[in-house]
Amino acid sequence: MSHVLASRKERPWWRDAVTYQIYIRSFADSNGDGIGDVEGIRSRLPYLKQLGVDAIWITPWYPSPQNDHGYDVSDYMDIEPQYGTLADAEKLIKATHEHGLKFIVDIVPNHTSDQHKWFQAALKAAPGSPERDRYMFCDGKGPNGDLPPNNWEAVFGGCAWERVIEADGKPGQWYLHLFAIEQPDLNWENPEVRSHLEDVLKFWLDRGVDGFRIDVAHGMVKYPGLPDIPEVNTTSEMLAPHERPFWDQEGVHDIYRSWRKILDSYPGERMAVAEAWVSPASRIARYVRADELQNSFNFEMLTTLWNAAEIRAKIDNSMQALVEVGAPPSWVFNNHDVVRSVDRLDLGLTNNGESTFTRQGDPAKFNIARGTLRAKSANLMTLALPGGTYLYQGEELGLPEVRDLPEDRLTDPRWKMSGYKDRGRDGCRVPLPWKSEPTGGFGFSTNELLELDQAWLPMSPWMGNFSAESQDGVAGSTLTIYRQALALRKLEEGLGDGPMTWIEAGKDVVAFSRPGNFACYINFGAAIEIPSGAKVLISSGALEGNLLPTDTAVWLRVNS
Ligand code: GLC
Ligand code: CA
Repeated sequence: MSHVLASRKERPWWRDAVTYQIYIRSFADSNGDGIGDVEGIRSRLPYLKQLGVDAIWITPWYPSPQNDHGYDVSDYMDIEPQYGTLADAEKLIKATHEHGLKFIVDIVPNHTSDQHKWFQAALKAAPGSPERDRYMFCDGKGPNGDLPPNNWEAVFGGCAWERVIEADGKPGQWYLHLFAIEQPDLNWENPEVRSHLEDVLKFWLDRGVDGFRIDVAHGMVKYPGLPDIPEVNTTSEMLAPHERPFWDQEGVHDIYRSWRKILDSYPGERMAVAEAWVSPASRIARYVRADELQNSFNFEMLTTLWNAAEIRAKIDNSMQALVEVGAPPSWVFNNHDVVRSVDRLDLGLTNNGESTFTRQGDPAKFNIARGTLRAKSANLMTLALPGGTYLYQGEELGLPEVRDLPEDRLTDPRWKMSGYKDRGRDGCRVPLPWKSEPTGGFGFSTNELLELDQAWLPMSPWMGNFSAESQDGVAGSTLTIYRQALALRKLEEGLGDGPMTWIEAGKDVVAFSRPGNFACYINFGAAIEIPSGAKVLISSGALEGNLLPTDTAVWLRVNS
């Protein structure tokens, strides 16, 4: 790479930001009802500032019946009453900026809630009406239209079509829902849909947000005629990277080109990041071409095994594809949709199971000490790689997956739609433990009387061991290492965006250097020697003399 990069201060913030994902329902509860909220976030801004992140991203906070916890939006221009008011939201955006942090909201353009006024109007209107045209309504197949229009399956399981009852009381048309039944897909061929979502962007840009995380960014446009797909047997195949008539269609890029113009029409560096589950990496790169979006999550680390060769190859693939379009990588090791990395990296889970067992692995084999060390090492690796990273609340605490949620408390639509085979994603969405004592759900809630099982998802008694309080100031804790690494990262001009060079250090080692005589080593095999003369800046675990033990990562200042 020969191009000269602007210094950290001069380049756009989104090229190397560390963005903290807040799952609003589970972050902090300010009014004691056991549900996280907007004011709760505001009360924790000092914590986020001290952690050292650059930006926060809030999962959907709009009015919603919460069938998919906010990813079913019933009004894009207001705040869910459980979470607060629009005035609270404006106050939070302002306070976030006062703390020197950027603010990203989640936008859900592929589908609305079935409670959105547009969908309610569509249900009441006749087939062929303008109201129905905002969604994907079709007649069924078979003599009475009794069969779904095609064979598409919902990502959460089951048929992707739901039949409605018409005004005459008889079963009539079908509507498409790629996700839950309560999440009807919008029709992006309809100009009103396009212009409304543009107004939504402007509504939030006017309120000062710095960016958007675009939900299911690869799904809005469907192939004309909605053709059948080759036989699909499993949910993971539905999400498979193979060509699908509803994923990664050419038309989505037109939408992003028009959105980019809107972003650029505002002062400051406004951005958007795509949630596009597409592969190979060259397809991801298409979302971040110069006239489209700024970031697209590199999800490959959500499916990786803890294996040096695989991780090296994934880094290489992502970087090569992005360099061609001049975009920075955006690394992700955790989010609200996957089993937490402490468990995943230990058990070798690749996030594409159909059942609880394939998704969450065998608890009897889980070695939490090893998983924690691997997750810490993964954090040091991503913070040293070129580009930015997105971290998910609780990742900085090394929080493991919560596996002991009672079945009658599971809320993820995946649980029901999989025919109760897959417990779904609730295990990574349990409220955060802030304090070591169980009072108020380990400090999640201001309500001291709140019992652990009165939080919206029950908290487990062991969670106090992972609280922010119990790790604060403790040498070697996940929180301490995260804080130290972020502080160092700010000082190291060579980190973030910019070049990296692989270091050859054996087949079980991932090692690379960055400008400024900086090197990062992650050891996946037997202990290796740290290069002589190198100074250790930080390590994810204890070192043995000048040996780097297995599963451990270090940042080094090396000899020039
Ligand atoms: C995205 C979200 C996920 C949600 C789905 C449907 O994948 O991350 O949580 O269920 O979209 O909106
Ligand atoms: Ca609350």
